[in-house]
Amino acid sequence: MKAVILILVLVAVVQATSLKDILKAEFNAFKLKHHKTYQDASEELKRLQIFVENKKLIDTHNKRYLAGEESYEMGVNKFSDMTPEEFKTRVLTNLNPEDAQEGIDNIYNTSAMASLPSSVDWRLSGAVNPVKNQGSCASCWAFSAVGSLESHHFINSNQRVSLSEQNLVDCTRGYPYNNQGCSGGWPIRAFNYVRDNGGINTASSYPYEGQDNTCRYNKNNIGSKISAIIQIASGNETALASAVANKGPISVCLNGSQFQYYKSGVLNKPSCPHSVDHCLVVIGYGTDSVGGDYWLVRNSWGENWGENGYIRMARNRNNQCAIASYAVYPVI
Ligand SMILES: *[C@@H]1O[C@H](CO)[C@@H](O)[C@H](O)[C@H]1NC(C)=O
Ligand SMILES: *[C@@H]1O[C@H](CO)[C@@H](O)[C@H](O)[C@H]1NC(C)=O
Ligand SMILES: *[C@@H]1O[C@H](CO)[C@@H](O)[C@H](O)[C@H]1NC(C)=O
Repeated sequence: MKAVILILVLVAVVQATSLKDILKAEFNAFKLKHHKTYQDASEELKRLQIFVENKKLIDTHNKRYLAGEESYEMGVNKFSDMTPEEFKTRVLTNLNPEDAQEGIDNIYNTSAMASLPSSVDWRLSGAVNPVKNQGSCASCWAFSAVGSLESHHFINSNQRVSLSEQNLVDCTRGYPYNNQGCSGGWPIRAFNYVRDNGGINTASSYPYEGQDNTCRYNKNNIGSKISAIIQIASGNETALASAVANKGPISVCLNGSQFQYYKSGVLNKPSCPHSVDHCLVVIGYGTDSVGGDYWLVRNSWGENWGENGYIRMARNRNNQCAIASYAVYPVI
């Protein structure tokens, strides 16, 4: 009996050690892949512990995914050494819903609309630029505004242009647009600026720095202009689909807390709240055989996040994560 217990204990110890070694090896691979360096040994240990916690959550979810109980897969990505709280403060944005409606010229009119195509992907017509990377600056709102504006510029003029997010980060801070640069903001505020200002600079003339700086807009380097800002009836996914199909990519803001773990598939989280902290661009929609109806959404965390920089999110499921609550697009 004693011997059996001893053997069981030994087996448990060996298993625990090897599990630890496996996690350590995975952490080392993670550090290498994402170029992570930590200031000292205690920080490294802290990051390892957070990584292990996140890995547990990911593995538990993926067991359900493999059993067919979830429509999306989670995975280790560059955020896997952050706590959810750190992810919220460092990556997501700070949005006050009271600022979300200002300066709209019109509500999107769906009544002229014929029947909608079953799927849309604006990449197929060349209207979507490669995915960009906001870096460690909560400027998703600027990438959301620029992403949709670049596409509408292309749809309108057949000319591809890359526009300056830094222009928006620097020049919409404080009165009267009240965005907060790398601490957050709204795409609609950025559109207001571009419309009122008479243009936005090209990305090549005003490159991205990923930090707050002084406004250096130069009217000799205008890349695009906006004549009007159109909002989609808030929370209406049918109207959003109509606008995506008929007009082009649309800026949206939503709750992105689950994005920390997303890898692939259709993100479906019925409990996802309607308070928003991240902005992106809806560039299409469709129906997946596993995950059902989805929105095709372009993020600004580089191409090595999600599905080559994109995420598919549950569509026609009660405006999940508030995806249709703050949808807006510019008229060139
Ligand atoms: C919406 O479009 C329809 C058909 O083109 C038009 O009759 C109607 O006046 C428009 N509504 C608004 C609010 O512009
Ligand atoms: C959403 O928009 C569609 C298309 O315009 C419209 O038919 C429908 O009544 C709207 N739904 C709500 C809840 O307003
Ligand atoms: C987004 O949702 C998460 C829970 O999924 C919540 O903790 C977070 O506070 C939400 N964001 C905002 C801005 O409320």
